[in-house]
Amino acid sequence: MYYFKFIWGVLMAGKDRIKIAIAGVGNCASSLLQGIEYYRKNEDADAIGLMHRDLGGYFPYDIEVAAAFDIDRRKIGKDVSEAIFSLPNCTTVFCPDVPRTGIEVSMGRVLDGCSEHLFNYPEECRFLPVEGEGATKEEVVSVLQNSGAEILVNYMPVGSEEAALFYAECALEAGCAFINNMPVFIASNPEWAKRFEEKKLPIIGDDIKSQLGATIVHRTLADLFKKRGVKLERTYQLNTGGNTDFLNMLNRNRLASKKISKTEAVQSVLAERLENGNIHVGPSDYVSWQKDNKVCFLRIEGKLFGDVPMNLELRLSVEDSPNSAGVVIDAIRCCKLALDRGKGGILYQPSAYFMKHPPKQYPDDEAYLMIEEFIAGNQ
Ligand SMILES: NC(=O)c1ccc[n+]([C@@H]2O[C@H](COP(=O)([O-])OP(=O)(O)OC[C@H]3O[C@@H](n4cnc5c(N)ncnc54)[C@H](O)[C@@H]3O)[C@@H](O)[C@H]2O)c1
Repeated sequence: MYYFKFIWGVLMAGKDRIKIAIAGVGNCASSLLQGIEYYRKNEDADAIGLMHRDLGGYFPYDIEVAAAFDIDRRKIGKDVSEAIFSLPNCTTVFCPDVPRTGIEVSMGRVLDGCSEHLFNYPEECRFLPVEGEGATKEEVVSVLQNSGAEILVNYMPVGSEEAALFYAECALEAGCAFINNMPVFIASNPEWAKRFEEKKLPIIGDDIKSQLGATIVHRTLADLFKKRGVKLERTYQLNTGGNTDFLNMLNRNRLASKKISKTEAVQSVLAERLENGNIHVGPSDYVSWQKDNKVCFLRIEGKLFGDVPMNLELRLSVEDSPNSAGVVIDAIRCCKLALDRGKGGILYQPSAYFMKHPPKQYPDDEAYLMIEEFIAGNQ
């Protein structure tokens, strides 16, 4: 074992660190950074909670934060290791001792990041944005360039179209790859995808799937219906939670792309697409005491052999943000592999496996095989 580790250490000695920048130091970023430290500390433990411990030679703890942006007064100027535990973040603390990074959270650009309705809620459960417009594009690009970040990870709130596109633009100018974890369509918009292709910068998107969340469970059950010859006639997926993501999504005007992303993720695996009136998928309510716990209520109605009706009900309870970090930790390393291989533009396989609204949808078992081929360098 020792010999193996020694040889491995020599082989990996030349491997780069993976320097990322984060836009939006909220709950998902908190879980991601806690996870990087957690797996550093538990290097020899069984890889609980990881889809890949070693992904193409990269481990979770090879990821390092080089820059971070936010607009919340309680986060800007703090070391990232401290900002991830600042209000209104409320996710589970599974790794409290995240060492100082020496990287302070920089001012981002406000744009449409903070919905008006949030101001009706107490400060401890909503954003507390800076006065004014925040940083300029030149300032953000300059921070990115000086930091040496090679991948910008976008965690803007749902509905922040202008802010998401702003950070995508900054990534292009600064020469960073881009991972779009939220449902503004960038990787799945051919014009944006082309711009990343032209600059030879990889892009993965859009809207991160959770490791074991409502989307993947719903898709898997829908696929099961298809494979067992059961006609799926109607379905809903109702979700409640008490974090800022759910609070933000109370503003229905910000929800259009999230609804498309979540609904399309299910429609795309059905034997036959359902009429709009027969499918309802979306965030449903904000329950403040739930904090980062998300509860999904799922119902599927169908017809079995002989046209005989059946239905299925499922309740799924998960901590929302670690659930997304378990996937982002792989998306980042796939992005780094693409950078190492000089590959730019849309990364189809990682987008299909990791994202709810990729440029091209594949069934999950197919996407699983594709991602392994991608990691092995065969695609
Ligand atoms: N399982 C999951 O948690 C999951 C799954 C899929 C997608 N997502 C998406 O990921 C995104 C992030 O989720 P989260 O739970 O971390 O949200 P969050 O509300 O905890 O964090 C968002 C952060 O962005 C900051 N922000 C707002 N506007 C900004 C701007 N213009 N510039 C810089 N920072 C800004 C906020 O201050 C906050 O710190 C959301 O869009 C969410 O829907 C999450």
